[in-house]
Amino acid sequence: MHTGNWELPIGNCMIKAVRGTRDLLPPDTALWNFVEASVRDVFRAYNFHEIRTPIFEETQLFARSVGEETDIVSKEMYTWEDGERFEEKRIIDEWLRANQSDDPSHVQAGRVNVQGSPPFLAKLKELGVQLQVWRGIPVRPNFPGGVLGGRVEFVTFAPRVSRDAITALVKARDIAKSEYSGEFGNYPILLRLVVPDEVARSSPWVQTEDVEIEPFAGNYFSSSQTLTLRPENTAGIVRAYIEHKMWDRGLNKFYSIGPMFRRERPQKGRYRQFYQIDAEVIGPPSAGSESPARDAEILELLATLLDRLGIKDWTLQLNSVGCPNDRVAYNEALRKALEPVAAKMCADCQRRAVTNPLRVFDCKVPEDQPIIEKLPRISHYLDESCRKHFEQVQEILKAAGVPFTLNDRLVRGLDYYTRTAFEFTHGALGAQNAILGGGRYDGLSESLGGPSAPGIGFAIGEDRLVLALKESAEAVQHKPDVYIAPLGPGMDREAARLARELRHHDLVVELGDESFRLKKSFEAATRAGARFILIVGENEVKADRFALKNLATGEQVSVPHAELALRIQSAQ
Ligand code: HAM
Repeated sequence: MHTGNWELPIGNCMIKAVRGTRDLLPPDTALWNFVEASVRDVFRAYNFHEIRTPIFEETQLFARSVGEETDIVSKEMYTWEDGERFEEKRIIDEWLRANQSDDPSHVQAGRVNVQGSPPFLAKLKELGVQLQVWRGIPVRPNFPGGVLGGRVEFVTFAPRVSRDAITALVKARDIAKSEYSGEFGNYPILLRLVVPDEVARSSPWVQTEDVEIEPFAGNYFSSSQTLTLRPENTAGIVRAYIEHKMWDRGLNKFYSIGPMFRRERPQKGRYRQFYQIDAEVIGPPSAGSESPARDAEILELLATLLDRLGIKDWTLQLNSVGCPNDRVAYNEALRKALEPVAAKMCADCQRRAVTNPLRVFDCKVPEDQPIIEKLPRISHYLDESCRKHFEQVQEILKAAGVPFTLNDRLVRGLDYYTRTAFEFTHGALGAQNAILGGGRYDGLSESLGGPSAPGIGFAIGEDRLVLALKESAEAVQHKPDVYIAPLGPGMDREAARLARELRHHDLVVELGDESFRLKKSFEAATRAGARFILIVGENEVKADRFALKNLATGEQVSVPHAELALRIQSAQ
């Protein structure tokens, strides 16, 4: 494959995973599977159903939901122009307009005349060379083929300076010289590669004496859409809700598990590709989607889930960020409070103080924190209905025995939140201590062109959850129950038969090899962490009794074939 810069020797340097991405390897993957199996169980118990949305979406979806001024949208998204197409016909037409002479009998100096015999022109096309022209040559009137002298040019139009385009031109000249020698014999042939000038400037310089590279002014690329790797999944799920008119189903309870992408500075617990376990409850108001009972159910589900996974020291931080009514008054108060101090803050805060003052709370710059600490608090600006909603959420949580801490500085770094907002933090995670976050987004559907569809959801950072669980990793490793050690020629067959039988009993079986000596089999069994080793030698097969050794206790017994599975299972 041509990589663009083919003057440089291609080295053998090792290719590594991209910064901020990582491979999940065994035994860690067992922990990931344990987490995912457990959350699927919990979601089933709460009647949530899986939804899978695409990993990339139109950029506008995130700009309109998460918000232009958020860190995520303004700094962290992986965005690209998709469907970029080189408009070959347009650049040829424009080039001819700029270069071609209208006078077939006399080509003026510097102008060109399109020429060529039909079979040779067809050949050129096949090679990827688009034009054969004569430049600056007088031709005999009324006899277009009768050229008196001058220069032939083969012209290729390409999106960039590439080896392929140059090879095609050179090949065309070779064919012309050998197969059409009579026609081309007397004339020098110039090879010309025309590329859009924007691209020509950024193309690697190509050393070629043979080909003239002509940067041609103009943009000859049409680009269909701007796409983004999803930085979060609420927007995608609400888009799907609207697109598939899911309000007909009443209240929807979705969950999804998958990778998200943010160009953040990588550190422990913060990656550029990370995984979220996302849940959303969304539906028309008539289905009860606005009820504080939904908020409480989500929070209670999370408490259950974390407890079940064995995450002990979590803290639920709870706040209400109010609704659009409250937000107007609060934003106004923030703007006022920021006016005299904004100049002392970081550049982002100065901008946000004007465009979206709530986002000032996302600032991580230490010097700005004392100023932010003194800003007005959202809890003082909640209207009656928001206050009541928040109180009811708290009452249900207390009744259900879910502990929480009120934190009226928690506004969350995404614009779509209304009313309840929350995060669960965990001490063991250090700086990136938010194991999950979520909240209500009652106006999101409308802002994406859908009907009223209040909703609430959360996303767990699965990477962080796994980190928090890491200490107990040992507990969820599935190690082989038994390592089967075939001993001597022909024993692989017998071992395979036994392994199949034992696996049917749901046992985890690791299989050795008849070429291994017994000592090597013991070493392999120990390294795999097997609980038992089962010796399969000729004598054992004959007697239909097998030596089964418990690798932890060292106890070895001879077990009849029929009792093997039971014996291994009962020792669990
Ligand atoms: P978020 O707070 O941006 O919310 O992300 C949720 C969780 O994803 C965080 O608490 C953290 O555990 C994890 N996370 C975020 N960025 C990274 C990263 N770079 N590396 C590792 N983990 C990360 C949302 O995404 C919302 N969509 C949540 C939501 C759902 N709200 C309503 N419904």
